[in-house]
Amino acid sequence: MEFYALLVLVILGLTTVDCYLPPSIIVCHRSDPDLDQCITDVADKLRPNIMSGDYGNGTILPAVDPAYVRRLDIDGGSSLKATFENCTIRGARTFHIDKLHFNVPKKSIKILVTLAEMNLTGKYSLNMSISLLQLDGQGDFTVNTSDVKLLLKIRYTLHEADNGRMRLQFLPIDFKVKFAGGVRFYLANLLNGRPELVQAANDALNQNPDLLLEKAIPAIRDFFSEMFTTIANGLVRDAYLDEVLPL
Ligand SMILES: *[C@@H]1O[C@H](CO)[C@@H](O)[C@H](O)[C@H]1NC(C)=O
Ligand SMILES: *[C@@H]1O[C@H](CO)[C@@H](O)[C@H](O)[C@H]1NC(C)=O
Ligand SMILES: *[C@@H]1O[C@H](CO)[C@@H](O)[C@H](O)[C@H]1NC(C)=O
Ligand SMILES: *[C@@H]1O[C@H](CO)[C@@H](O)[C@H](O)[C@H]1NC(C)=O
Ligand SMILES: *[C@@H]1O[C@H](CO)[C@@H](O)[C@H](O)[C@H]1NC(C)=O
Repeated sequence: MEFYALLVLVILGLTTVDCYLPPSIIVCHRSDPDLDQCITDVADKLRPNIMSGDYGNGTILPAVDPAYVRRLDIDGGSSLKATFENCTIRGARTFHIDKLHFNVPKKSIKILVTLAEMNLTGKYSLNMSISLLQLDGQGDFTVNTSDVKLLLKIRYTLHEADNGRMRLQFLPIDFKVKFAGGVRFYLANLLNGRPELVQAANDALNQNPDLLLEKAIPAIRDFFSEMFTTIANGLVRDAYLDEVLPL
């Protein structure tokens, strides 16, 4: 009998070692009357972990600041084709959670976040017409933005594991982005071989930033949606619902 009791303990022990949240996560209780504030505080405390992607004890997920984007292709029909490669995105660490609401029965979380600044650098190649101007070129680029508003809609489903406990699975995160504070582009070598016109060409682009931005937003949105969904699922992968959100 004692042997079996010991065996059960060992199995339970192993199970709890197996199924855990990264040590950086502080859990909130479903019954907390101020659940929204609790989660907001957790996200704030996790800021360094979210930025580096290191959540402790071997949980390594994509880094958010700086974030790397291998390639973004923008196809805006005959008037716009662009490729951005090897991009570094900085500034996510300036995030502020303006609003967060967790609807437990609906298994959904809505978060409104402002990034004070977000800057990109990398390589571009672009062909684009702005009114009568034909812009083309390739080389280094920078884009500086401020006051970036993100609206994230996060939903999850529950799945029963073999032992009857519930696991969470996040669905692809719905992501909206608005550049409220303006956008400044600088595309070096725009108008290949006509350096005297580079600044004028960039001014034309900056006077009509939406022409490029509106076509770029879907690619940016898909990139971040995938990254945040990967992170959310990575964090809860080895944990059960009653560990992530105890009653
Ligand atoms: C990290 O893992 C080690 C070994 O598995 C364990 O001893 C330690 O308690 C864990 N740290 C935290 C903070 O959970
Ligand atoms: C732009 O056009 C040039 C030649 O006209 C081409 O080499 C380049 O690949 C094009 N760039 C994109 C992003 O389509
Ligand atoms: C992007 O980085 C890869 C790998 O380092 C390199 O092969 C490629 O040439 C780079 N692209 C540009 C446009 O510099
Ligand atoms: C972004 O660019 C702005 C304007 O140049 C600068 O003031 C800011 O420090 C930059 N922020 C980051 C995170 O790179
Ligand atoms: C963006 O900000 C950096 C400094 O963070 C600066 O070097 C660069 O010139 C700025 N680019 C634009 C287009 O404002």
